[in-house]
Parts: sequence; structure tokens; C-alpha cells
Amino acid sequence: MARYLVTGGAGYVGSHTVLALVQRGDEVVVIDDLRQGHRGAVAPGAELVVADVADRRQVAEVFAAWRFDAVFHFAALSLVAESMAQPLRYITENLSNTLTLAEAAVQAGCLRFVLSSTAALFGYPDSELMHEGSRLDPVSAYGESKLMAERGLDWADRVHGLRSASLRYFNAAGADPGGRLGEDHNPETHLIPLAIDAALGLGPALTVFGTDYDTPDGTCIRDYVHVTDLVDAHLRVLDVLGQGRSARYNVGNGNGYSVRQVIDEVSRVCGRPVPFRTGPRRPGDPPVLVASNALLREETGWRPRHSSLSEIVRTAWEWRVAHPRGYRGG
Ligand code: UFG
Repeated sequence: MARYLVTGGAGYVGSHTVLALVQRGDEVVVIDDLRQGHRGAVAPGAELVVADVADRRQVAEVFAAWRFDAVFHFAALSLVAESMAQPLRYITENLSNTLTLAEAAVQAGCLRFVLSSTAALFGYPDSELMHEGSRLDPVSAYGESKLMAERGLDWADRVHGLRSASLRYFNAAGADPGGRLGEDHNPETHLIPLAIDAALGLGPALTVFGTDYDTPDGTCIRDYVHVTDLVDAHLRVLDVLGQGRSARYNVGNGNGYSVRQVIDEVSRVCGRPVPFRTGPRRPGDPPVLVASNALLREETGWRPRHSSLSEIVRTAWEWRVAHPRGYRGG
């Protein structure tokens, strides 16, 4: 049995990871300020400390109270569009929280760190699939903030021996296939939950952000990866850290779907049309982001197992139908 610190463990990907760790018998301490996260999303059995990761004193207290085998750092600002309105806040907060936490981990002698990173650090693609070595040139302040965080962790590795795995998520989507957890952001800005809410009449008609991209149907193409597959990547990189090395991995399916294809799939799975209108492009959106996941497969044996678009949409839909008010509804 191991013990892990999980920041943002009441959020979307964080809560799914906490559940997986608890289920396999690990001990988990969550730090989450519950601004975005939900108390009800934290798996029973995990210890929840309600605190801001920016609060050095509280973070130090947590490291003093428990010894951890590794830290998973999910807590972050993560909206591309918001980052284009508040770039300095995004860069300051995401960078400084990552480095403050890394510093506390080093001081406590915990030298394994898993960072939630993002495909947004690539920017405009220079090849059909984004490889770990593709050009890093973010077109959003959110992407920049994670790139800087990764670079800070490189220094922590070189100087302090802090081994880190950065997982560059493509588009996390879907929900726990067992129906225990789902996606509940406030405000919700992600395509799949918004399309589902539009179909269910729980939200307004969807706006398609841009139909004039250089893609087959003019809408943006993304690589949607099931949250359960993402979680599996987090568990597997612990072995890489255990081998004493740091790594950066793309986590995606390797298949791209356009916004229009997603709308069609949501309509099909839900058996209802998705009302939508077309609108202008959203700042900070690259036209295409699709992963090469070869490195993660080769080095960890990871395979996407739930990542057909229909399974992603179906699990998201099932959770939403059962929780039309999200975690507020219990
Ligand atoms: N979209 C719409 N209408 C909406 C919402 C989204 O057309 O109402 C479009 C976006 O323009 C984009 C696609 O649907 O082309 C997906 O948008 P999301 O907001 O669901 O996701 P993003 O691609 O913007 O961002 C997500 C994560 C980021 C991560 C990125 C990497 O939120 O953290 O994937 O691909 F960096």
C-alpha cells in the first residue's frame, strides 16, 4: 500500500484518479479548496483537506502530517478562453502553485511528482499528430502556464532529483463507466457536456465556435480521451518515476473528431437532436490537436480502452441523466 497526495482531487480528472487509487487499496489525501471541486466527488476513504494549494503554510502542514510516495497535481486554472482574458492570472497562479508544491515535496523528501499538463502547450500543429518532441509554442496563456510549469519541474529534477511525469492531456471527456463520478464544471465550457445539456434541454443551444477553419468540415478537430483511460496513464507513470526518471507524455487516442462530428455523435447516442448555432472562432483555439500516443504505449504499456467517441459520449450522457443538477443534486 502506498500513500498519495492529490491536489484538485475533488475536480473532474482528479476525482476519478482518487477513486482508482482508493479502489486499489492506496491511501489518499486530497487538497482541494472546493472552488471548482465537489465534496461529493471525493471517494469515501480518501482524506479531504479543504485548502488552497497556494497556501504554503497549509501545504507544509499536510506534508508534516503524512509521508507521501508521490504527489499528483491536478489543481489549476484550466480554461483556454478564460486564460486569454486573464493571461497574467493564469500564468502566475498555475506556475507558482506547481512550483510551491514541488518545493514542499522536495523539502519533505517526496521526490515523485505527476503533473496534469495539456496539449495546449503545442499551439498550431507542425505535423498531423503531435509528438512529445513537436514544437512547443502555445497559442493560449493556459498552455503557456503549463509549459512554464513543466520547465520549472525540469529544474527541480536537475537540481533536487524531483522526478516528474507530465501528462499532456488532449480532451478529457466521459465519465466513470460505473456511474459513480462525472463531469461537473461551473461554468461548463467543454463541448461534450454542453452538447449533452443542449440535447437534454438542461442548457441553451450550443454555439459552434468557428466554421471557417482549414479542416474538412470547417470546425476544430480534437482528440477526445476517456477520463478512465487518462486515470490509467496516471497510475502507470508511477512505475516510470520509480525507475528514477522524469518523462513527458501525450495522453490522447490518436483519433481526431470535428465539432460537427461530436454534435452528430451526441445526437445519435442521446437519441435527440443537439440544437446549435454557428458563431465566431474562440480565441486561443488551434484548428487541430491530435495526439501521437506512441511513447506512452511503448514505455508504460498504456492502451486506450474506453475511448471510442460513442463510449465517451454514452458515459457522459448516462451520468448527466442521473445527475441533472450535477453534484449539487447529490
Ligand atoms: N467548442 C464549441 N462550442 C462550445 C465549446 C467548445 O464549438 O460551446 C469547440 C471548441 O472551439 C473546440 C472544441 O469544441 O474546438 C473543444 O472545446 P473544449 O472547450 O471542450 O476543449 P478545448 O479543446 O478548448 O480544451 C480542452 C481542455 C484544455 C486542454 C485542451 C487540449 O479544456 O485544458 O482540451 O486539447 F488544453
